[in-house]
Amino acid sequence: MRMSRIIGHRGLAGEAPENTLAGIRLAAEKGMKWVEVDVTLLGDGTSVLFHDRRLNRTTNKNGRLQSLTVSGLESVDAGSWFSEEFSDEKIPLLKEALQLINQLGLGVNLELKTNGCSESGLVEAVVNSIAEVEFPKDRLLVSSFNYRALVRFSDRSDIPVGCLFERLPLNWRKKALRVNAVSIHFNSKRTSKRQISRVKSAGYELYCYTVNSLMVARQLIEDGVDGVFSDYPLSDD
Ligand code: G3P
Ligand code: MG
Repeated sequence: MRMSRIIGHRGLAGEAPENTLAGIRLAAEKGMKWVEVDVTLLGDGTSVLFHDRRLNRTTNKNGRLQSLTVSGLESVDAGSWFSEEFSDEKIPLLKEALQLINQLGLGVNLELKTNGCSESGLVEAVVNSIAEVEFPKDRLLVSSFNYRALVRFSDRSDIPVGCLFERLPLNWRKKALRVNAVSIHFNSKRTSKRQISRVKSAGYELYCYTVNSLMVARQLIEDGVDGVFSDYPLSDD
C-alpha cells in the first residue's frame, strides 16, 4: 500500500488550522505517516497550501487568494480563526511545506486545486518545487478533482498520481489509464461496496475522504478500502 490507513486531511484539520505547518507538525507528533494538503497559486504564481478560493474562512483577511502575492503573505494570519494558540501561522509556501514534511519523514498527497488559477502554471510550480526540495518519489502522490490538470501533471512527471472524484464516474477506468493512476480517491459518503470491489479488482488502491469516525473507517477498510483521509488521528490505542 502506497499511503497509510489513516491520512491526515489538510494536515490534521480537526486539531490544527488546515494546510499549515503547525498542522503538519502536529500530524507527525500524533503518529500520522501521511498527510494530504491542498496546493494552489497566488496571483504572482507562487505555489502555496490553501483550500478555498477566498481568504475569508481560514484567515483574518477577506477577498480572493489570487489577489495576494508572496510579499503579502506576512500580513495574513492563517491560524487565529481556528484557535488563538495558532496566531503565528501563515499560509505556507509549497516549498517550505515539502521541506518540513521531508524532515519529518512523512509521505504527502498533494491535491492540486486550480481554483481559477492557471493549470499549466500550477503543474509547473509543483513539479519545480518537488525537484528543488528533492522530495523522495516513494513518499509522494499527486491528485486533483481537475482532470485536465492531472493529465498535464502525468504527462510532465513520473510521480505517481491518483484520480480524485466526488463520485466514481462511468468512465473512471479510461481516465485512470490515461494518467497511469496508482489509486482512486472518492467521497466516502458516495461509495458503495460494489464500487469498492470494482476499483479493487481492477488493481487500484482506493482511498476515501473525509472520514472522522473510527467505526466508519473500520467498516470501509473491511469493505476493501485501503485508507481514509481524516481530520483526526482516529487511533484507538
Ligand atoms: O483529497 C481528498 C480531499 O481533500 C478532497 O476534498 O475539498 O477536502 O480538498 P477537499
Ligand atoms: Mg484536499
